[in-house]
Amino acid sequence: MATINENYLKLPGSYLFSEIARRVAAYAKANPDKSLIKLGIGDVTRPLAPAVTEAMHKAVDEMATGAGFHGYGPEQGYEFLRQAIAQHDYAARGVTIAPDEIFVSDGAKSDCGNIGDIFGVDNVVAVCDPVYPVYVDTNAMAGRAGDYDEASQHWSKLVYMPCTAENGFSPAIPEEKVDLIYLCFPNNPTGAVASREQLEAWVAYANENDAVILYDSAYEAFITQGDVPHTIFEIEGAKTCAIEFRSFSKTAGFTGTRCAYTVVPKELVRGGASLNSLWNRRQCTKFNGVPYVVQRGAEAVYSPEGQAQVKETIAYYQRNAQVIREGLTKAGLTVSGGVNAPYIWVKTPEGMGSWEFFDLLLEKANVVTTPGAGFGPSGEGYIRVTAFGDAQATQEAVARIVSVLG
Ligand code: MLT
Repeated sequence: MATINENYLKLPGSYLFSEIARRVAAYAKANPDKSLIKLGIGDVTRPLAPAVTEAMHKAVDEMATGAGFHGYGPEQGYEFLRQAIAQHDYAARGVTIAPDEIFVSDGAKSDCGNIGDIFGVDNVVAVCDPVYPVYVDTNAMAGRAGDYDEASQHWSKLVYMPCTAENGFSPAIPEEKVDLIYLCFPNNPTGAVASREQLEAWVAYANENDAVILYDSAYEAFITQGDVPHTIFEIEGAKTCAIEFRSFSKTAGFTGTRCAYTVVPKELVRGGASLNSLWNRRQCTKFNGVPYVVQRGAEAVYSPEGQAQVKETIAYYQRNAQVIREGLTKAGLTVSGGVNAPYIWVKTPEGMGSWEFFDLLLEKANVVTTPGAGFGPSGEGYIRVTAFGDAQATQEAVARIVSVLG
């Protein structure tokens, strides 16, 4: 008899964003006359930059010729893209990352989930609370999280690092020894950032304890403040203890196009094994690479025109973030994030529960948000609002929320 991976049976409910989509679809079906504004899932709305689509058109035309056709590409990504990433995302910041330390993929979500393949099941895993649910669920699927406890909403083997208003949404280093540490800065969902000193402390901890930091910097392009590190590899010593995940999704509107990359430094060794070699082995076996056409599009993000165009789009979303922050603050809500991140973390009024406030905004303002409790128990009492919407719709959403609260 075929047996199943019973860890899947331990997972509570459905994936957060699927659950929200289900609730929103049910509401829309029952209320077809309402016009919903969706500021829930962090999905971009602006079109791809012209430099990107031109490069993709050109690549499609190449594919239609005998000389320019591409079959399977390198599993790790084409050299032209790995070089461009090394140059623009790292060398330009004074960080040396070699192209063969960069693995191009179809998404930071997949990589954050798949990276668990190269780690033992016995590692003690630390996650922030609230947290991007992929880190937790994928460890649960792999049997690294233990059992789920409904009452505390915690997994028995995970170490939770609360991120609360009291600690500025920045996790403290756990007292118990941990082996794998997921950090995401700028943070999803709170929009908080880590200072250089905070990252230095994490790197020192990881090196001293032979731990590995799994650093998700998918929202790096939204950093506006000059002293905030853009990559963990700006921190001395990070190459011997960190893996970094980056994505073109939020930087260049690739959520539907799919391209990301993961940096695994060659200096990173655990148990005598090079993690770069293990990840390479994993990718070669389970992944056939990102389409040539898409990688040409990603490469064009780094052209001078591409850079100017994506910066303009990011500025558009940053203006949305400002509209949300200012509007909701004026309405008397306590907000954070949205300065170096596309997410605004909003305290619910009068001690209302996250899902209760989510439902109120859905039903009375017809605005979709994300309940903070969906990211973990410390997210209770908050909702997350994304700045990735259409500008006019965002203004309208804020006006509706203000009028509901007024
Ligand atoms: C989110 O809303 O948290 C993101 O869209 C999730 C993701 O990038 O997968």
